[in-house]
Amino acid sequence: MPHRPGQSFRFTHAITRLPSDSVANGLRATDTGDPSGTRFREEHALYVKALQEAGLTVDVLPSLEDYPDSCFVEDPAFCLPEGAIQLRPGAASRAGEGAQIRPALAARFDDVVKLPEGGHVDGGDVLMLDDVILIGLSARTDRRGADDFSNILSNWGYSAEICETPEGVLHFKTACSTLGDGVILATGVMAESGFFGNRELVVVPEGEEYAANVIRVNDVVLVPEGYPKTRAAIEAAGFKSVVLPTHEARKVDGGLSCLSLRFALSNG
Ligand code: GLY
Repeated sequence: MPHRPGQSFRFTHAITRLPSDSVANGLRATDTGDPSGTRFREEHALYVKALQEAGLTVDVLPSLEDYPDSCFVEDPAFCLPEGAIQLRPGAASRAGEGAQIRPALAARFDDVVKLPEGGHVDGGDVLMLDDVILIGLSARTDRRGADDFSNILSNWGYSAEICETPEGVLHFKTACSTLGDGVILATGVMAESGFFGNRELVVVPEGEEYAANVIRVNDVVLVPEGYPKTRAAIEAAGFKSVVLPTHEARKVDGGLSCLSLRFALSNG
């Protein structure tokens, strides 16, 4: 696909959803205690403010008590300037989230395409770079979903590569992020995977693996609170960082990228 400089981090809009009280029942690999809906909404407000300060118009959707993980809006959809794709998350309790977010996609995009029946893709497994879109197979994203998703991307002029998310990693982007300008932030395991070719890598220091999930938004990189070595490495690589609390999201395996759909629109 043509190299589109800035595609992976130049955004005008974001869609988010308020955390529900039922987030206390959210999915997690290891139980470290239930998140509090109230505290999560306080952290979420700071997150929305940071996106706005980075220059985005942010849609904040109402919470959905029937879907404990629904504040992680990145998983049921994927957005490009050409249109939005309604995905089908791979966890049974999240399967209905695609239909729930569709009206918000339709409010911003003329073209909303649904992933064909049969396969599953979580947006957390999709890493958009400026010259390729990487799709990680995982416990949530299967081969059929990845192939169907790739075909939709191809119709819109994008190339995708399908990779294997390392064992034990929830989502592909749990362990890596784009910092933009061709630079990838990755855990040691991901850095050794070969998925990133000869791109420049910033490796997350051991013990701070959670901080591999950051988001570059226009001129800043949003970084989770409590990971000073990773923040220092990002700054040393030449990027300006803004630190945000994600303590409640972390209890249910959520990170900064999962909390928004970010995209660039030319029509406001
Ligand atoms: N709790 C986020 C997820 O597992 O999908």
